[in-house]
Amino acid sequence: ADPGPLHRLDDLEAEARLRLDPVHRDFFAGGAGDERTLRANETAFDAYRILPRVLRGGGERDLRTELLGETLPMPVLVSPTAFHRLAHPEGEVATARAVGAVGTVLVVSMASTTPIEAVAEAIEPSDRSARLWFQLYPQPDLGFTASVVSRAEAAGCRALVVTVDSPVFGRRDRDLRNGFLDLPPGYCCENMRDPETGRVRDIVMDATLDWARIEWLRATTRLPIVLKGILHPADARLAVAHGVDAVLVSNHGGRQLDGVPASIDALPAVVAAVGGRIPVLLDGGIRRGTDILTALALGAVAVGVGRPVLWALAARGERGVSQLLDLLRAELARAMTLAGAVRPADLTREMILDRVPG
Ligand code: FNR
Repeated sequence: ADPGPLHRLDDLEAEARLRLDPVHRDFFAGGAGDERTLRANETAFDAYRILPRVLRGGGERDLRTELLGETLPMPVLVSPTAFHRLAHPEGEVATARAVGAVGTVLVVSMASTTPIEAVAEAIEPSDRSARLWFQLYPQPDLGFTASVVSRAEAAGCRALVVTVDSPVFGRRDRDLRNGFLDLPPGYCCENMRDPETGRVRDIVMDATLDWARIEWLRATTRLPIVLKGILHPADARLAVAHGVDAVLVSNHGGRQLDGVPASIDALPAVVAAVGGRIPVLLDGGIRRGTDILTALALGAVAVGVGRPVLWALAARGERGVSQLLDLLRAELARAMTLAGAVRPADLTREMILDRVPG
């Protein structure tokens, strides 16, 4: 049945709640520790106000965004999230179709429940290989890590998103209480299948991960490397020094170290540290076009969405993900029009007042 139009992003979460196994819902919704950072990611936007410009004309908005050698139709990408088949039977295939049709970037999680090759197949040939990036948790077994990177390259992925905020799993009380420690029978992390034995390995969070490993990766792949999970400006500078192609300011949606700043609060210092040398991306708490506008004005080139995509997928499948991306695009275009910006580049730092009391 046609779910009808989508008026509010929040409606997706409410609809998803009715459909999801409560244990899986908790896995998607939850964060680490007391979930302070999880909550802060959304509420932090309340402390920013947009100072619009008027009488700037400009007609139709142009949301096109240059990023790592590609032109995206809008400055919004889909952040990597695990286990899409727990949200919807079509899983990552449905997500990829929706994202492929819009033409923006889907960052496929290393923990996807569909192999990267099948995700790539799901995208129409005209779009294929242009819009998939692969998220990597570097594994201590370098040979295996290199084989996963080769698979992603062969499938047509155009960038490697290396998650650096996870030297160990964040402690998520909801999952512990629910006993959700692994995928249910019938599902697995298909990208972890050993090329020789066919056995599926567990993803290892590697506490030895360091900059030397980033250098090793740099030498292992020609793909652009995006470091996901940068919060400290000094790390942003190190990323530039190590030849990384972009940084993604992220706290993993509040799922790793609880108590770290909301992504939007960490953004300005990272942008200042990078000084325009590489693009800065952001994810965490983006729920509205006005949130996107705020992040762009504070210096992000594009933003990622995580949970909203899972809610869309669970609630309405492929169509839900399309509707979500269309809604974010329409909200951003309207907010830009009201703020007097024709293009993302017209959004500047002075258009944001910060530390506004609630
Ligand atoms: C994630 N995230 C994540 N990140 C990553 O690098 N690899 C992964 O496999 C996952 N898996 C994952 C699962 C679930 C259920 C969630 C909610 C998140 C983090 C994700 O990429 C992103 O940083 C956050 O989701 C962004 O915050 P919002 O948009 O969910 O507020």
